[in-house]
Order: sequence, then C-alpha cells, then structure tokens
Amino acid sequence: MPKLAVIYLSTQGNTKLMAEAIAKGATERHVEVDINNFYEWDPEDVVNYDAVAIGSSTFYYTILEPIDKFIDKILELGISDKICCAFGSYGWSGEAPVKIAEKLRSAGVTVVDPVLRIQYKPTEKDLLECNRLGKDIAEKVKEKNQK
Ligand SMILES: Cc1cc2nc3c(=O)[nH]c(=O)nc-3n(C[C@H](O)[C@H](O)[C@H](O)COP(=O)(O)O)c2cc1C
Repeated sequence: MPKLAVIYLSTQGNTKLMAEAIAKGATERHVEVDINNFYEWDPEDVVNYDAVAIGSSTFYYTILEPIDKFIDKILELGISDKICCAFGSYGWSGEAPVKIAEKLRSAGVTVVDPVLRIQYKPTEKDLLECNRLGKDIAEKVKEKNQK
C-alpha cells in the first residue's frame, strides 16, 4: 500500500482538524497514513513515504521558523520524487500554505492543487474539502505507482 505522511503545525487545533480530515480521505482511498505534529516527526522517516501533506497556520504574515526549517530539512534529505500538498488554517492573510507550496515547487516537488486554506476553525463543509484533497493525493500516488 502507498504511504502518506501528514505533517502539521497547529497551535489551537484548527490546522490539526484539516490534517485529520485529509488523513481520513486518503485512508478511505486505501493509502496507509501516518499523521503527527511536525515536531514529533523525524525528518529522516519522511523520505520513506510516497506522499507528504504539509500544513501550517499563519503567524505574523508568514510561516513560523521551526516548520520552515523542518521543510528545508526534508527537502535536503530528498523528497523531490514525492507527491505533496499544502494546507493550513489562517485568520486574515493566510501566507503559510502558499509559502509551503512555493518552497516545495521551487525544489521541483509536485504539489497537488488546491493549496487549501481555511479561515479559523474548519466547518463541516470545509472538512469535506480537506477529505477531498486527501482522496485526490491518494489517487495521484496510486496513479504514479502504477507507471
Ligand atoms: C499571535 C497571532 C498572530 C497571527 N498572525 C496571523 C497572520 O499574520 N495572518 C493570518 O492570516 N492569521 C494570523 N493569525 C491567525 C491564525 O492563523 C488562526 O487563528 C489559525 O486558525 C490558527 O490555526 P491553528 O490552530 O492551526 O494554529 C494569528 C494568530 C495569532 C494568535
């Protein structure tokens, strides 16, 4: 079974709810999923996955340095062959998911659209969108593995 790593930074649980819905969507498409806060992930383990979903909420009009550094680290270790997606909850400007996607794309990584941004706590409808993204990334990984 293909494997998806869901990695997030969430201070009040909003991005975490998105991460859980993405994980559920991918699981429903028969992808094995591991999900955790970014600081619980060992960057060395991330390279063993077929796909990586990275989420962060926005602070001070940008992405917080610890997760930014984590992403640099996994890029350095080599994730350019993976299928990725970027997501995050925000309040008013929402730069973090955009920055994640830009960073990954400029390193040659495939980032599935949409870069998913949800304002504050996701509603049931928002969570369905997250679930859809989880299913989409699962389908893309399976397609790639068949080639
Ligand atoms: C100190 C602080 C700074 C913030 N700065 C921004 C910001 O610059 N832009 C933005 O869109 N949201 C900003 N937010 C809002 C958070 O991104 C928003 O509350 C989000 O839902 C938090 O999600 P989380 O629970 O996953 O961390 C800020 C929140 C706090 C507490």
